Amino acid sequence: MGTGVMIHTYRSATMDRRLLLLKWLMVIIPPVTVAVGHSLPNHSLGSAETLLVTVLATVLALVLAYVFAETLFRVLRRLQAEALAREQDILTMNAVMQERERLSRELHDGAAQLVAHLLLRLDTIKELVNADRHREADAELERLRGVADEIYEDLGESITGLRTNVSERGLVCALQDYVDRFEERHQIPVILRTDDAATQLSPLAALQLFRLIQEALTNVRKHAGARQATVTLAAHGPDQLRIVVADDGQGFTPGDRSNGNTRPMGLTSMRERVEALGGAFDVESQLNSGTRVTATILIPRPGRPNRHESLATPPG
Ligand SMILES: Nc1ncnc2c1ncn2[C@@H]1O[C@H](COP(=O)(O)OP(=O)(O)OP(=O)(O)O)[C@@H](O)[C@H]1O
Ligand SMILES: [Mg+2]
Repeated sequence: MGTGVMIHTYRSATMDRRLLLLKWLMVIIPPVTVAVGHSLPNHSLGSAETLLVTVLATVLALVLAYVFAETLFRVLRRLQAEALAREQDILTMNAVMQERERLSRELHDGAAQLVAHLLLRLDTIKELVNADRHREADAELERLRGVADEIYEDLGESITGLRTNVSERGLVCALQDYVDRFEERHQIPVILRTDDAATQLSPLAALQLFRLIQEALTNVRKHAGARQATVTLAAHGPDQLRIVVADDGQGFTPGDRSNGNTRPMGLTSMRERVEALGGAFDVESQLNSGTRVTATILIPRPGRPNRHESLATPPG
C-alpha cells in the first residue's frame, strides 16, 4: 500500500514538471520567434524564408499546445478515475459498516432476546421441578426446545450470511450456492432464474441485492409456510434489472404487526438497500395467495454510478 502511494506521488510530480515545461514552451516560442524575426537584418532572410520560419513556429506552438492539452486531459481523466475509485471505496466501507450495524442489531433483537427468554424459562422449570409439578415442567421444556431451535436457525442464518463472498464468486454463483443450502436446510424448493443483466453489476450493488434476496428468503422460511419460492433476476428494459422473490405461501396484510416482533427490520432494510442503489422497491401480498417482493434498479455499470438517477417514486 505504501509503495502504491509513493509511485503515485512520483508520477504526479513527473507529470507536473512535464506540464510546466510544456506551458512555458508554449508561452515562450511564439514571442521569441517574432522577436528573432524582427531583430534579424532585413536582407538576411527572404520573404519566403520569413514565411517558412513563421509557419514552422506556428506549427511548433500548435503541436506543443496539443501535447499540453492532451497531457492535461490525461491527468484529468486519471484524477477522475481515482476520485471514482475512492468514492466506490467509501461506498463499500459504508456498506460494511451498515452490515456490522445490522448484524449487531440482529444479534441483539434476535438471538440475545431469545437467550434471555430461555434463561427465564429455565428458572420457571427449576421452580416447577422443585414443586414436583413435573407435567408442567415437561410442557415448559418442550417450549424451551422450540426457542432453542429458533436460536439455532437465527445464528445459522447469520453465519451463512457472513460467510458468503459475493465479490469473489459473483452474484449469480453466490446466489446459486445460497439457494442450494437454503433448500437443503429448510426443505423449501427455490427456483433461481437469472440472465446476463445479473452479471453486470458493481460489487457493491451485487452485495446489496444478495442481502436483499437473503432477507426475502428468510421471510419465506419464517412466515410464508410456502410450498416453493422463485427468485428471478432479469433485464427490464435496456438498462434496468428487476429482482423478484415470490412465494406461494399464506401471505400477509402489510402494516399488520400482530406477529409479536416489536422491531421488524427485514422489509425496511430491503427497502433501504434498494433505495441506496437509487432503485424502487415494492411488496405485494395477498392472504392465502403468497407474497412478491420486487426491486428494480438501474444497472450500475462502471463509469455510470446510478445512485444519482432515482427510479424511486419521489415522496408526496
Ligand atoms: N413472505 C412472507 N410471507 C408471509 N408473511 C410475510 C412474508 N414476508 C414478510 N411477512 C410478514 O411481514 C412481517 C414483517 O417482515 P419483516 O421481515 O420486516 O420482519 P420480521 O421477519 O418479522 O422480523 P426481522 O426480519 O426483523 O427478523 C413479518 O413479521 C411477517 O408477518
Ligand atoms: Mg424478516
